Amino acid sequence: IDIVVELVDARVPLSSKNPDIDELARNKYRLIVLNKADMADAKTTAAWQSYFEAKGFFVAKVNSQKGAGMKEVKSLIEKVCQEKKARDKKRGILNRPLRAMVVGIPNVGKSTFINSFAGKACAKTGNKPGVTKGKQWIKLNKNVELLDTPGILWPKFEDQAVGQKLAISGSIKDDILNITELAMKLADYMKKNYPGTMASRYGIEESDDSVKVLADIAIAKCCLMKGGEPNIDKAASMLIDDFRSLRLGKVTLEQPPQSEEE
Ligand code: G4P
Repeated sequence: IDIVVELVDARVPLSSKNPDIDELARNKYRLIVLNKADMADAKTTAAWQSYFEAKGFFVAKVNSQKGAGMKEVKSLIEKVCQEKKARDKKRGILNRPLRAMVVGIPNVGKSTFINSFAGKACAKTGNKPGVTKGKQWIKLNKNVELLDTPGILWPKFEDQAVGQKLAISGSIKDDILNITELAMKLADYMKKNYPGTMASRYGIEESDDSVKVLADIAIAKCCLMKGGEPNIDKAASMLIDDFRSLRLGKVTLEQPPQSEEE
């Protein structure tokens, strides 16, 4: 592999990134694809792009579902290809195609990306000797080949905030986590980073107390229990569902760190 194309979720670019890949892909060209950019806040996505570019990565913003941003990915890969060609030439290697591989955590959109990116170019060059059967190279053009099987990375759960953000965004199953706890985290984050959004959607006041926010949403949306008490759990599910369905607008769940320590 010459270039590792690493997909991250534009709504959670750090939490959906496995830091081990930096070690695994040392000495390779690196392209970070901010996928699902259609669901993220455009301003924050631009900030993330600058953040990763400053670290030396090539970066593209993409919506794999609609194919938006694929031209940018192609032109970045082409750029890498030219660089590699010049390097190969110096070493006397001629006409070796650039080999690319897509990696990322489950649900980040790897299959959707490969289908959209490779499109009709799925003319396979066949199994190569020594390569596990089933793994095939998709010839994108005469200079670039893409491995049709993506590499699956596992998210890093060392920090519990990582798991929470991946659960809120729907990348990992939320039945192992408490949905009301997740909704409280989301309500807190929305209040700080997108003030007024919940107020206008639900007609509530954005109190500092997240349980009160959920209770107010429950009352506003008539999610009441038998005795007339607000059904907090139902309001929590509604808030998470509204976030995932973009009814709270395009929201990014983490901001680029201001300094390395963060
Ligand atoms: P994976 O191979 O990395 O596991 O992910 P996969 O391509 O299966 O994509 C996971 C889900 O994310 C799919 O939705 C897919 O449609 C969606 N997705 C992928 N890329 C994008 C994108 O750029 N924007 C948006 N909005 N969604 C994207 P699903 O609900 O699991 O399936 P379905 O609704 O497509 O049937």
